[in-house]
Amino acid sequence: MLENKRILMIIGGGIAAYKSLELIRRLQDKGASVRAILTEGGSQFITPLSVSSLTGDKCYTDLFSLTDEAEMGHIRLSREADLLLVCPATADLMASMAHGLARDLASTALLATDKPVMICPSMNVQMWQHPATQRNVGTLRKDGIIQIGPEDGDMACGEVGSGRLAEVPNIVAAVEDFFRAAEAQPLAGRHALVTAGPTWEAIDPVRYIANHSSGRQGYAIAEALARLGARTTLVSGPTNLAAPAGVETINITSARDMEAACHGALPADIAICVAAVADWRVDSEAQSKVKKDGGAPPSLTLVENPDILAGLCNAGNKRPALVIGFAAETDNVVDYATAKRKRKGCDWIVANDVSPATGIMGGENNRVHLISEQSCEDWAEGAKDDVARQLADRIAAHFESQEAAQ
Ligand code: CTP
Repeated sequence: MLENKRILMIIGGGIAAYKSLELIRRLQDKGASVRAILTEGGSQFITPLSVSSLTGDKCYTDLFSLTDEAEMGHIRLSREADLLLVCPATADLMASMAHGLARDLASTALLATDKPVMICPSMNVQMWQHPATQRNVGTLRKDGIIQIGPEDGDMACGEVGSGRLAEVPNIVAAVEDFFRAAEAQPLAGRHALVTAGPTWEAIDPVRYIANHSSGRQGYAIAEALARLGARTTLVSGPTNLAAPAGVETINITSARDMEAACHGALPADIAICVAAVADWRVDSEAQSKVKKDGGAPPSLTLVENPDILAGLCNAGNKRPALVIGFAAETDNVVDYATAKRKRKGCDWIVANDVSPATGIMGGENNRVHLISEQSCEDWAEGAKDDVARQLADRIAAHFESQEAAQ
């Protein structure tokens, strides 16, 4: 799979640097040729000798080395690769990348490259969750940097949580996925419309009705479709997520705004409604803040919101060829979802159990059933990114089989 692929690995200064040695071997097993830059911090954990013994090449360390520059300038080093893989990506390296710093060979190569960059973050849980790191992660995503992990679990520092380097086989799989998608763009020439996140329905200028949707699953699906070459429009309710790379993102607040944005984005070949649209809105939104007046609490009269999914299914000659809904249920998941697919008129429905015990709503993972008129498949629980990739692959396969049948 990775035959003839050239990977420039940038090894940052974290304890997980030792895993980069294993990663070099596993990438080579798949046929990749690997070159490596070791940062000064990285060389506190592993030696240039172990790196170069494995890569069979020089281990590049110094920006101002005359001999290195004479043999292989840093610009050439950064461009003579098909992919730059930063592993482990420390908080410091990510901050350098987000701010465009070029203070050593690693950060200079990352700034000078014209090739795709993948980062595998690894750090203490507090460092990972720090707002500064999260800001930098958001910036890097916007810059189109692909992120693998981190995963949850025990860490070398003794703490437990998010921040562990993704397992080596998962990184190898992500690298393979990247090259597969880069080579095959089965959705090129198609337009995909995705809705995501909650909607907020105003009660008055300071209060609103909302729900727990994080938007993660919809964002991941939009990104996965874009990676397969689809021109992708994401219509998103309020979330804390950065707009996915390569996706046109339209931010809206209410269900009615979402409906207008979706219809404005047509025609589309594919529509996937992942948003947790508020079913109801307040009949008449107060124009001023509702005050306590010492009497009984005000009662809110609710009216039903437009059903965006059903509206897309009934859009006449503008109906996308493949319309997919989501059914978030807490009971009788498959039965309710099967009925919902028929009622809404969509082609497929992705059902999931969002009862609080599953931790799905707002969480990292998802476990779904893909229901069509003909079948119901139970997919294994996986990260929302993996579910998204699997769904995007299924969509591509659906169009391919339709084309083959014509
Ligand atoms: N949906 C939509 N517009 C709405 C309500 C739902 O587009 N006003 C879409 C969702 O994005 C999802 C699907 O319809 O793809 C099912 O959403 P869900 O909330 O599960 O269904 P409801 O129709 O709201 O049914 P209920 O809440 O009664 O289960």
